[in-house]
Amino acid sequence: MGMQEKLEQLKQWRDKIHAGGGPRRIEKQHQSGKKTARERIALLFDPGTFVEINTFAGDPDMANLEHPGEGVVTGYGKVEGRKVYVFAQDFTVAGGSLGRIHAAKICHVLDLAMKTGAPVVGLNDSGGARIQEGVDALNGYGEIFFRNTIASGVIPQISVIMGPCAGGAVYSPALTDFIFMVQGVGQMFITGPQVIKAVTGEDVTMEVLGGAATHNQTSGVAHFMASDEETCMQMVRQLLSYLPSNNLDEAPQYAAVEPPGDPEELLQIIPDNPNMSYDVRKIIRLVVDGGELFEVQPLYARNAVVGFARMNGQAVGIVANQPDYLAGCLDINASDKISRFVRFCDAFNLPLVTFMDVPGFLPGTAQEYGGIIRHGAKMLYAYSEATVPKVTIILRKAYGGAYLAMCSSSLRADAVFAWPTAEIAVMGPEGAVNIIHRKEIAEAENPMEMRAKLTAEYRDKFANPYVASARGFIEDVIDPRDTRARIITTLESLDSKRESRPRKKHGNMPV
Ligand code: HXC
Repeated sequence: MGMQEKLEQLKQWRDKIHAGGGPRRIEKQHQSGKKTARERIALLFDPGTFVEINTFAGDPDMANLEHPGEGVVTGYGKVEGRKVYVFAQDFTVAGGSLGRIHAAKICHVLDLAMKTGAPVVGLNDSGGARIQEGVDALNGYGEIFFRNTIASGVIPQISVIMGPCAGGAVYSPALTDFIFMVQGVGQMFITGPQVIKAVTGEDVTMEVLGGAATHNQTSGVAHFMASDEETCMQMVRQLLSYLPSNNLDEAPQYAAVEPPGDPEELLQIIPDNPNMSYDVRKIIRLVVDGGELFEVQPLYARNAVVGFARMNGQAVGIVANQPDYLAGCLDINASDKISRFVRFCDAFNLPLVTFMDVPGFLPGTAQEYGGIIRHGAKMLYAYSEATVPKVTIILRKAYGGAYLAMCSSSLRADAVFAWPTAEIAVMGPEGAVNIIHRKEIAEAENPMEMRAKLTAEYRDKFANPYVASARGFIEDVIDPRDTRARIITTLESLDSKRESRPRKKHGNMPV
């Protein structure tokens, strides 16, 4: 064969691989509301930037190819000009099932991403371990899990669930930093409805068991829910815009954008009555660049708000209590949500800005039996361990252990600011008065009146920012309208922050 013929054959074979499982299966994929692996990749990357690698991995008998591309497309491309690696499982080829070569292609991409310090996005759409390949398939998963773990904290890893993801296969996404799920399309579970029915007798559909809503609202396994695949890919691109390419890099700098709205509005948000709630996101949006908060897990543990934003063009991690939900109490789920987010930000050099309005940890047997002690401790651990710049704003309540857990000065916040509305004490006035003045109230002629009087006294004496300021725990009590400016100047001053912890193999976080 001459060069021309060889080139023609090359094109023919490449086209064959690009055709995946063929028109019939592609049609079926489209009919079930899903795009193909290559269509998804095109949505993820800047136009024309995708470069495929290992195209011909698999069976060398190209004329009788059974599994074109081995059910996964791998390579790299650009997102807003920055390199990102990708693997996209191709459901049209053996249901995207994972065999030895399929796994090797994914591992190669993970190795390259690690070597070059670039994020990886995995687009999951697979029937799981390729049954015909038996233990080779299982070993393939193990190789991926190992790499996910070693890459954790070195490069950002993002998983997108755009089809089935069942059995042990769910553990690769679970080991990555963020999971996106497309509604009505992505499903994750360890054991499917049929096994559940056989073992426990429960009747449950795939969607209710492991759909996007379930994992975003109930289990907390997923971090983002998208209505469709296009929106999902836009969200992945948006997330990447806040992240550095690796742990030795800085996040990209953007032009600063003033938040929309008048800073005067900050004076109106917190109600005068301390028992009334408000939406803390209103405050965040009046403080951060362009009023834009990219919330992580917005539907899970809604008593806490975490997400990415920019201050003067610099990406930061935002953590806040949400008084609008469970009064902003910390509970098991909120503790998990916050500590995982704090650790991500610390691993990837993103300063932490914490907005505190927390009445305490949620009381109750459900919380105690569920291990709130162990889960709450994760927050103390995560914030203490974090060496990125840490700025805390106390908006209102800052009580007890929850005050400490929300990045107080003792957990090495670099700067703590308090609004004049801040109440910093061991516990809220009502609870405190009932304990320390129990006898006095019981013996009073009018116990109700006495309790009210003592509560007011306590509030004046302790529930304010000045006692903590006098002790040096607060850098300054600030006018709410100055919040943005103070955060920006403080972050600038912390630009050169260098803090190290003792060298060790790793700590033992209370997981
Ligand atoms: C090989 C598979 C496959 C698999 C699907 N296919 N799953 N081939 N191994 N695991 C093939 C089918 O034979 C079919 O081939 C094509 O993919 C599409 O599958 P359909 O069943 O036609 O599609 P659909 O009706 O959409 O159903 C999708 C599905 C179902 C729900 C994923 O295929 C299914 O239940 N598959 C088995 C899932 C499973 O039990 N996997 C093992 C999980 S345990 P043709 O040629 O007809 O197109 C596991 C362990 C991992 O993964 C452990 C890691 C530690």
